[in-house]
Amino acid sequence: MRNKIAFYGAGNVGATAAHWLAGMELGDCVLFDIFGEVAAGKALDLFEAGPPMGIDTQVTGGSDPGVIEGADVIVVTAGVPRRKDPETGKFPSRDELVKINQDVMTAVSENIKKYAPESIIVVVTNPLDAMCHVVKQVTGFPRERIIGQAGALDTARYKTFIAMELGLSVEDIHGIVLGGHGDTMVPLPRHTSVAGIPVTELMSQQKLEAIIARTAKGGGEIVGLLGYSGYYAPAAGVAIMVESILKDKKRVIPCAVYTEGEYGYHDLFLGLPVVLGRKGIEQIIAMDLNDKERAMLDHSADAVRSVVEVLGY
Ligand code: APR
Repeated sequence: MRNKIAFYGAGNVGATAAHWLAGMELGDCVLFDIFGEVAAGKALDLFEAGPPMGIDTQVTGGSDPGVIEGADVIVVTAGVPRRKDPETGKFPSRDELVKINQDVMTAVSENIKKYAPESIIVVVTNPLDAMCHVVKQVTGFPRERIIGQAGALDTARYKTFIAMELGLSVEDIHGIVLGGHGDTMVPLPRHTSVAGIPVTELMSQQKLEAIIARTAKGGGEIVGLLGYSGYYAPAAGVAIMVESILKDKKRVIPCAVYTEGEYGYHDLFLGLPVVLGRKGIEQIIAMDLNDKERAMLDHSADAVRSVVEVLGY
């Protein structure tokens, strides 16, 4: 039986995730988007890339949500980005955007429940942690099958900046970023190493602090350059998560997970180190945090909570 990976939303992140994952030949890819025939068009284009690239993945797509039927994993990127209203010329407030994407995520969740009730959902739409709550509320899926993509991206950015600063391979940088997906995220320098050598031995505290600050604002840096959000790195974060799930690799990747007492948090999606396997989130790893790290995580949890409150559940 072949795996089926559905991409609910075929915009920049969704289509780029499909691109990475099609190349990894993990399963057939199906794209869905409500905007015209964009999903069918991108899917066909990607399928046609198979012969020259030697990629043996079926890629299909359409504007009927039924195409996601029976998917093993669903990558959700459907949503509305933060952009100016063409009529008023104003940006929506944070709370307005939360409400807009809450409506999108409600519709998305109802369709997933209908067409793929056994699927594992990887949520990417922002504000990430709050959107995970909507998916949980509407689908009623167990927490193992609702996983937010945030830490994979934030950690990737953190590692990239360390590799750039030291002039070393990204492959040898190990580290982790916890917390909510936003300015309050919690990179952990005490748990960061270069091939096992503590990064604090290789870099001044000042340089490390600068990298941590840059990581926390990593999304904004790309928006500043492009005028819209990045998509290669977010999509790559999705790809390693889906790979670990479908290959049952049991990789340890920080993901937004619904807490039920872990780290002292309850009923809140928050970025924590989890083990990803064929059942989804198979374990939440408990780390010993010092007082400073704990205070930062608490601060991040408060920030997530304030957005979740806007949902009104
Ligand atoms: N059903 C299906 N697709 C939808 C729906 C819906 N109800 N509403 C919007 N979409 C689609 C849009 O048509 C668009 O193609 O979602 C897609 C979003 O793609 P982009 O606007 O290109 O946004 P992208 O950069 O991919 O980001 C998607 O991921 O990283 C986050 O902050 C980012 O929330 C954003 C999401």
